[in-house]
Amino acid sequence: MAAKQKIIIYGGAFDPPHKGHFALIRAALEQMSPAALYLVPGFSSPFKGFPAAPYKDRAGMLKDGLKAEGLMGRHKGTKAQCLCRRRKKGLWPSDGQRHKGIKTRITVHPFEFKRRRLTYTCQTVDFFKKLHPNAELYFLLGSDCVETFHKWKNYRRILSRAVLLAGRRAGFGLKNPAGAPYVLLKGRFPLIASAVLKAGLFSGLQPRGLLPSTFSYIDRKGLYLGALRRRLKKTLTPARFAHTSAVTGLALELSLRYGADPFKAALAGLLHDAARGLSPRTLVRCAAKNRLRAPRLNEMIKKAPVLLHSYAGADLAAKRFGVKDRSVLNAIRQHTLGSRNPDLLSKILYVADLAACDRSFPEAGEVAALARKDLDAAYLRANYVKLIYAFRTGGWRHPESAKVWTRLRTQEKNK
Ligand SMILES: [Fe+2]
Ligand SMILES: [Fe+2]
Repeated sequence: MAAKQKIIIYGGAFDPPHKGHFALIRAALEQMSPAALYLVPGFSSPFKGFPAAPYKDRAGMLKDGLKAEGLMGRHKGTKAQCLCRRRKKGLWPSDGQRHKGIKTRITVHPFEFKRRRLTYTCQTVDFFKKLHPNAELYFLLGSDCVETFHKWKNYRRILSRAVLLAGRRAGFGLKNPAGAPYVLLKGRFPLIASAVLKAGLFSGLQPRGLLPSTFSYIDRKGLYLGALRRRLKKTLTPARFAHTSAVTGLALELSLRYGADPFKAALAGLLHDAARGLSPRTLVRCAAKNRLRAPRLNEMIKKAPVLLHSYAGADLAAKRFGVKDRSVLNAIRQHTLGSRNPDLLSKILYVADLAACDRSFPEAGEVAALARKDLDAAYLRANYVKLIYAFRTGGWRHPESAKVWTRLRTQEKNK
């Protein structure tokens, strides 16, 4: 009786695909010699939400990476694997054929994307089981996922249809609370946190966890906020762009530390001063034309129109840059006066704006250090620093700033 065909499914966000993914793919191909490998980029993840790059580009980066790694198309298995397979089929040595390599069909499959909604792994496995009813299905994953596999939806159903094919990742042992049977690939595989990798990309860096081909794809297409960064570099003054980059860097660091969405933190950081270069006259005109809502607007117009740049900035972010996310727009709006009830992103942007590494006043370093330990305390301190600065320089103190600080201090005392 002929051995069953092996089919491997590898699902994930691939946002973006990195060296850890390709190392796992290579090992699975070399060690399992499957008939087919399906890479299934998700539409959205139950654990990670929506990807930052569109499906088309995630699929494109996967294909580019497979080509660059020599994995796309006909996969040449080792001679030993080929002969071993032939021996099992009773074809060797009597058939007299030479080693020809093992064909593996590698497909980037749009199953989850085409559904255009959250799809659980059990549904993906069901689909491929119907496609290959007589094959032996394997579901490829890292050992870190085996540890949390019991939290996956309908994980028993997955196990009834497919065998887990696990790669051991650095920092993770082989804990298996679900008691799921799995086949362990030989070797160790790098654990690359995609959130950290994306934070690097949002800052304009080239993370080491990416293949050069993936990075050039990202750079060419302006993905992961690259296009926005390029646009701002052209329109902002060099000093403003440097400040914007510094704020974005600290906002990203704090977002990773406190569990905010790095994409939103970067977007807010990059756009927070989009209107800072406008003259006071233009800001006032913009406020009237767009009916901007701000506390004590008329007083602000008379005494410190520059404060309007955060409200005009949120308006620009929405209309010119197409930002729809309310928390991003709120954070931009609130970065001058603060808020009595700030959400996590607003706190991060406010603190990052005051304490970014381009700030030269001594309190900046102190607030940045505090923010790495206690964001609420840093937010309170940053509000205080701004108030005191206005007091010392004889500038106008917006009544809302004083109210914000009083409210925050009361909340702090009542803790
Ligand atoms: Fe600002
Ligand atoms: Fe700023």
